[in-house]
Amino acid sequence: MKRLVASALTLGCALSLPFLSLPLSGQRTVERLEKGWRFTRVDDPKASTEGYNDSKWSRVVVPHDWAIYGPFSFDNDKQHLAIAQDGQKEAMEHAGRTGGLPFVGAGWYRRSLEIPSDLGDRRVFLRFDGAMSHARVYVNGKEVGYWPYGYNTFAFDITSFVRPGEANTLAVRLENKHESSRWYPGAGLYRNVYLTITSPVYVPLWGTQIQTPTAKASHAYVDVRTRIAGMSSLAGRPLQVTTQLLSPAGKVVAQCEEEIQSSSAEHLCHTGFELQSPQLWDIDQPHLYKYVVELSDGGRVLDRDTTTFGIRSIELKAGDGFYLNGRKIKFQGACLHHDLGPLGAAVNEAAMRRQIRTMQDMGVNAIRTSHNMPAPEFVRLCDEMGMPLMAESFDSWAQPKVPNGYNLDFNEWHERDLVNLIHQYRNSPSVIMWSIGNEVPEQPSAEGAKLAYRLQQICHREDPTRPVTNGMDNPKAVLKTGMAATLDIPGFNYRPFLYDTAHRVLPQGFLLGSETCSTVSSRGVYKFPVVRKSMAKYPDHQASGYDVEHCGWSNLPEDDFIRQDDYSWSMGEFIWTGIDYLGEPTPYYSGWPSHSSLFGAVDLAGIPKDRFYLYRSHWNKTSPTLHILPHWTWPDRVGEVTPIFVYTSYPEAELFINGKSQGRQRKDRSVTIDATENEESFKNFTRQKRYRLMWMDTKYEPGEVKVVAYNDAGEVAEEKVIRTAGKPHHLELVADRTTLTADGRDIAFVTVRVVDKEGNLIPDDARLLTFRVTGAATFRAAASGNPASLDAFHLPRHHAFSGQLVTLVQSSEQSGEAVLRVSAKGLPTATLRLQIK
Ligand code: GAL
Repeated sequence: MKRLVASALTLGCALSLPFLSLPLSGQRTVERLEKGWRFTRVDDPKASTEGYNDSKWSRVVVPHDWAIYGPFSFDNDKQHLAIAQDGQKEAMEHAGRTGGLPFVGAGWYRRSLEIPSDLGDRRVFLRFDGAMSHARVYVNGKEVGYWPYGYNTFAFDITSFVRPGEANTLAVRLENKHESSRWYPGAGLYRNVYLTITSPVYVPLWGTQIQTPTAKASHAYVDVRTRIAGMSSLAGRPLQVTTQLLSPAGKVVAQCEEEIQSSSAEHLCHTGFELQSPQLWDIDQPHLYKYVVELSDGGRVLDRDTTTFGIRSIELKAGDGFYLNGRKIKFQGACLHHDLGPLGAAVNEAAMRRQIRTMQDMGVNAIRTSHNMPAPEFVRLCDEMGMPLMAESFDSWAQPKVPNGYNLDFNEWHERDLVNLIHQYRNSPSVIMWSIGNEVPEQPSAEGAKLAYRLQQICHREDPTRPVTNGMDNPKAVLKTGMAATLDIPGFNYRPFLYDTAHRVLPQGFLLGSETCSTVSSRGVYKFPVVRKSMAKYPDHQASGYDVEHCGWSNLPEDDFIRQDDYSWSMGEFIWTGIDYLGEPTPYYSGWPSHSSLFGAVDLAGIPKDRFYLYRSHWNKTSPTLHILPHWTWPDRVGEVTPIFVYTSYPEAELFINGKSQGRQRKDRSVTIDATENEESFKNFTRQKRYRLMWMDTKYEPGEVKVVAYNDAGEVAEEKVIRTAGKPHHLELVADRTTLTADGRDIAFVTVRVVDKEGNLIPDDARLLTFRVTGAATFRAAASGNPASLDAFHLPRHHAFSGQLVTLVQSSEQSGEAVLRVSAKGLPTATLRLQIK
């Protein structure tokens, strides 16, 4: 295919045109293939054939994660191996590493495709936003394509496989190998699938590339390249190309028209627009522009394609780090896996929006999509909500971390996978850097450094506007091999005590904590005595909510805070993790029934743990934080030392137990990195004293704990009280939203709390709750955040954990009222009304 590069270069296209708007009659149709699917786990090779009888298969709606329905089992993907990264030298049994859910094996999906009888010379495409995994796609019994990597978007041209006006059959076979992942990957058509029909002359998928080489408050230059395919079908006739830029308010701010004539099959249009006083995309003001291209043949509209983009600048400065629109940004970042807790991997916008909103409230200003390409809905929401993203590609290259992982496909597929990731998201303003890998075993080899260089070159070739990083956990090796020096942004995972040495020898002049912390804790669970511990395990399979426990390779939040704060060249950090995820229940490697992580600042149900407030107190500069831990209901601890921590954005506070002052404490700003890099300081929580207020000797007595916080001027700024709970009295229901869209997809997340008469949380309540939804919505799932619970998420009964859980209510396509009823033994049924509109 010959490409005419920039043959119709129209630089500096007109601005401030009258507000024209284009006719809406583009020939493109896009159908989301949600309904009408049949699904089975029976692997019959004939299932690809046209007349196959699938009437006994289950009916499912896509996105669909076949494994999230469980049941949980010790035997699901039991892995017998040594996790080299975690320092394991000998193979041992790992149960629950990938979530203990039945994702391994094959699954088939089938449905019919409606292809219009007047298709003519139009083209037909299928697009999968991700299919887990090793997707083989068949149309009318013939294989149209294969894509192994489960996280990537891929598309096939199926024009020559379809029969217009007749019944067409789409069949997809997926297969997940055992020992192919380090976490729960999900299973099946867990992201959206689309059928697109275009005219023979069309803008192909991701055919538009927009750059903003100048992006200032005063003016911007928008550079656009658009590929046009199928030119030969014009038989030499000229093609009219109209392009428009629409402002965030939807007004046409620039327009360009040209006529092209080409004998090549494909043509590249290169256009430029100058804009005065553009509205920049930024974290607080995520202004989005639209670029619309319309192709016409003698007045007949052939295709119309819209691309959303933002105008913003990014810059890296030696000694100073990352700049967005000329403003220094230190990353207060969070790594997130792709699963959505009780929904598994099945894409849902409401769940993603809630994740991003929760992270924003914590003060997070960037998310790393560890360790793979995100769903397009997630990137779009980050564009819309102003959340910068590090878009990651791979957890492994050619050398394995698990026997059947992506390593088996890397050599053949990595370039296609990386190119798809970049083409899909290179117009998204939220994506501010690419990541080419995570802790790959190639780090110590010279070959590994060369490969890093090559992967970075692919990123630069496809998108010269964004820097590239790589999460490296072998700092000594990557300094020696040159891998770290090669990267635009050297990304270090853990071992912050080596940052300084690395920074001294690296040429870039900055360093990113691409993955940090890995503190472990459980919501509402506290262990005594309160001491710093590494890899601590307990009979209840939980970790202490005092936020004093970590892994053998990791540390506490303050060990990172202090470096991010005191080194101007530190670019910030991405904590492991913002939210708990399915799989990796470290340190309970073999401690079934542990099946989900303890790393999150927020639990698997989306309820904040105490650690959320520690980050919030340090990161959220717009809304104050004042949080007391632990809870104050300890009938067995009367008279025993029960330390009280306060996570607060205020510098100082006084603590009272039943009105008796326990003293006033101030955050100790004199604590330095160098003076505290020793065992004694770790043991004494010296660094913590700079960021937390801790009363280590307080003794428990039932009643009331009050904290009075003071601001910098020494004035009382805020007070907070927690009280010993009485007997369980009722259930409290709090919905994140009470009005849902009647689209059959929207979800309200309702937190259920078991409380006493006065509304105090019963902090150890674990009773069974049952749910019933009537009216214009249905029960979708429930989760408690307990990493050791074997309750199935999709069944309308679930045990509370530390007095709480979350139930998910999904809208139907009918508007009206929906009623959620939550019942439990010994308590009155609680009711919540939702409006579906
Ligand atoms: C890192 C790894 C993460 C997760 C984490 C747990 O080494 O990149 O995927 O395994 O450790 O601490």
